[in-house]
This record gives sequence, structure tokens and C-alpha cells, in this order.
Amino acid sequence: MCKNNSFDIENEMSIEKAYNIWANQYDTNKNLTRDLDKRSTIETLSKYKFETVLELGCGTGKNTKWLLEKATHIIGLDFSQEMLNKAKEKIFDERVTFKKADLNENWDVDTDSLELVSCSLTLEHIKNLNHIFYQASLKLKEDGLFFISELHPFKQYSGSKARYETENGTEELEVYIHHISEYIENAKTNGMELVELKEWFDEGVENEIPRLISFVFKK
Ligand SMILES: C[S@@+](CC[C@H](N)C(=O)[O-])C[C@H]1O[C@@H](n2cnc3c(N)ncnc32)[C@H](O)[C@@H]1O
Repeated sequence: MCKNNSFDIENEMSIEKAYNIWANQYDTNKNLTRDLDKRSTIETLSKYKFETVLELGCGTGKNTKWLLEKATHIIGLDFSQEMLNKAKEKIFDERVTFKKADLNENWDVDTDSLELVSCSLTLEHIKNLNHIFYQASLKLKEDGLFFISELHPFKQYSGSKARYETENGTEELEVYIHHISEYIENAKTNGMELVELKEWFDEGVENEIPRLISFVFKK
């Protein structure tokens, strides 16, 4: 477990609370980041073969639905019960298990032979990237893939954060910035190599700051 101090614990509780509120509108509000992530996930992962998948921060199951087109078994972890409830309303499939879990703890997933760990738009809420790479390396088989798609750190440097609308205005979540080198170093420390890295832009604005970054690492 890697919650270091009372600020981290409080921050984590407020993130969980925020997603429990956000869940109602997560799938329907205008959200360029969510929509671009769907594209980055599909375009990247279409190229690879996988059957057994662990999805980190699966949320309302936006990507779970697509992953099911290729996978025979998916475990989705998330600590927001309301986000998971939305996922369960949408996806009734015996190949999928949704579990309430905090990714900052040791992952209660009883396998070391997954073909894919997939994580979208979640790591900005996690302070300790090394913990995530370490847990992923424990759960992946040799040659297994770790796909990450996140808000680009350049976008974060310019102040962009996960946010949602409430009746009292826009709520912004406290986030952690992870530099590109941090992803690559943590992967290396945990025995993974970089297979691909791509930057994703809003349509028609390829000269501006990229919105997302995606990585595929191989154990
Ligand atoms: C922006 S949503 C992304 C959901 C989904 N992956 C997608 O792309 O639509 C981030 C998700 O990460 C989850 N999350 C954030 N921190 C977490 C943690 N420490 N443990 C488990 N889930 C977490 C939130 O509850 C939320 O569902």
C-alpha cells in the first residue's frame, strides 16, 4: 500500500467521492478527453492479440465494451461504486467481472498470466506510478502488454485537470503530474520495455499541445 500521508488519503477520498457524483453524467456530458481516449484505445489495441484483460480504473465500462470484442475474460477494477454501477447496468456478460478496489493497494487479482493490463485516464489520480507498474508486472504473463492512455503531461503543465460540471459550477479534481520519462523509467524498473508511444491531438489542431499520450509496454 502506498498512501504516504494524510493529504494523500484525503485526496484519494475526495477523488472517489467526485467520481461517485460524476458517474451520472460521465457517459453523456461533452468530454473531448473521454472521446479521444476511446479512439486511442481502439486504434492502438486493435493491432494486438489478447484474451485475458485487467482493466484499471474501468469506470463506467466505456472501454470494457470494446475490449469484449476481442477478450474472453476481463476483470475491471475501480474504487467508485457509482462508476461501477453504471458499468454493470451497461454490460451483462459472464466474461466480465467488475470489482471495487483501490489501485493503491495490492491488487486482489488471482492470476499471474494476463495478456493485457489496460489503463485509461486513471493514472493522473495515482501518486505512486511505481506501485502500478510493479502490480501490473506481477499480474502479466511473460510478453504480456501494459497499455496506458492518459492526459498528456504537456496538457497538465498548462493546467488541464479532470473536471466535471455540478449545479454549483465546474469541479476540478486534484491530480498528480507524471512526466513522460517517469512512465518509461518505472516500466524499465519493473522489467517492461516500451513497444510504442503515441501522442493524440484534437481533430484539426495537430499543431497544438497534444491532448493524450498512449504507451504500450511489454513485460
Ligand atoms: C476519468 S475516469 C476513466 C474511466 C475509464 N477508464 C474511461 O476511460 O472512461 C477515472 C477512473 O479512475 C478511477 N480511479 C481513480 N483513482 C482510483 C484508485 N485509486 N483506485 C481505483 N480506481 C480509481 C475513478 O473512480 C474513475 O472511474
